[in-house]
Amino acid sequence: MDKLLIEGGTRLEGAIDVGGSKNAALPILFGTILLDGPMTFTNVPNLRDIHTTLTLLGILGCPCAYDSRVVRAAPGQLKAEAPYDLVRTMRASVLCLGPLLARIGEARVALPGGCAIGARPVDQHLKGLEKMGAHFELESGYILGRCNGLKGAHITFDMPTVGGTENLLMAATLAEGETVLENCAREPEVVDLAEFLRHCGARIEGHGSSTITVQGVSSLRGSSYAVMPDRIEAGTFLAAAAITGGDLLVRGCPYDELEAVILKLQGMGMRIEQTPEGVRAVCDGPLNGTDVKTQPYPGFPTDMQAQIMAVMALARGASMVEERIFENRFMHVLELVRLGADIRVSGRTAMIRGVERLTGAPVMASDLRASASLVLAGLAAHGVTEVQRIYHLDRGYERIEDKLNAVGARIRRVKD
Ligand code: UD1
Repeated sequence: MDKLLIEGGTRLEGAIDVGGSKNAALPILFGTILLDGPMTFTNVPNLRDIHTTLTLLGILGCPCAYDSRVVRAAPGQLKAEAPYDLVRTMRASVLCLGPLLARIGEARVALPGGCAIGARPVDQHLKGLEKMGAHFELESGYILGRCNGLKGAHITFDMPTVGGTENLLMAATLAEGETVLENCAREPEVVDLAEFLRHCGARIEGHGSSTITVQGVSSLRGSSYAVMPDRIEAGTFLAAAAITGGDLLVRGCPYDELEAVILKLQGMGMRIEQTPEGVRAVCDGPLNGTDVKTQPYPGFPTDMQAQIMAVMALARGASMVEERIFENRFMHVLELVRLGADIRVSGRTAMIRGVERLTGAPVMASDLRASASLVLAGLAAHGVTEVQRIYHLDRGYERIEDKLNAVGARIRRVKD
């Protein structure tokens, strides 16, 4: 297993590039199941979760080839079973459920695993698909779904769920008649999925708002589509500029989609501005503490909570973080404390008192974004921080050490 050795204390300066969005690419790739013809995707990041998805698509009857961020997919004879060994490593595998039911009326999908950041049920996915005519049974750890063609329905989610909205949106494209989805997730990744589906002939309106209307069509054609940039990777780089007192030009950073994060960092004292080449983030003085509450888009993203907490650990004064999306997403706290941070957790709230310095130590990555926060803390800590179990990091960040080293970081990847 690989680990990262980070020698902290250097200021990051220069230009850094944002790759394609993992969370947009995953549902879009599963959307291939809906298509009649071959499809080409560009700007697909080279990440473990992406390769897991491509392997799974191959097993489901959609062979895919990956080369230099381009995926060529060729839907063939579809099969219904998504096996446990793949699904357990990636929760997003459940996104094949809607497309398989829409296309072949059958799906056998292992109950998902993925990041251990809460209970993360899939009841909203199943309830919505049931309203469209599917029946489900649980059998030896598998969700077994069947339908005799999906029918349009009026579905109101109990909470805005990103994966739930995506699964239902995909299912509705080939259902008979009109589907109205209410209380939808408004995340940019949902919008990117809808744009891709429209590109292939789907009739979708309202994506990006909380009500999405879909008129079912009889088939979707293959085409080509470029995946949107990764706003969370971009936000992590802004946080890297913040924590190292740096000056970074983040090329390809989607400014509008990151506004909630940018406003917070500006409120802490950073200068962040849009330029023709990208978003420039400059930190030339100590930052001040702030309060953050995670919320569905357009609120502050839960996927940036751990990273901003690392920045808060070294900011002046007190900060507060309230995690409203996932109940168990403070696993980075104890590791940050090992580096010298002063953080106390009570329920869904963390109180952070800024300290003068962090000191390098061995720490353990527990989930994807927690890993990113430990890398950020390591960049600022005195001495060497050893981040273990970085396979989580590799699920969501492409060559993060190479990208950061190119702007002045000192990170080495070593085998344990
Ligand atoms: C997606 C993102 C993840 C991000 C999260 C919230 C991907 C691959 N992952 O995850 O990085 O942190 O959105 O922005 O895009 N819920 C239920 N029942 C359901 C579905 C969800 O109770 O059927 C709850 C969840 O437990 C959670 C909340 O709804 O508390 C939001 O979850 P959801 O938006 O579905 O997250 P994911 O799609 O799993």
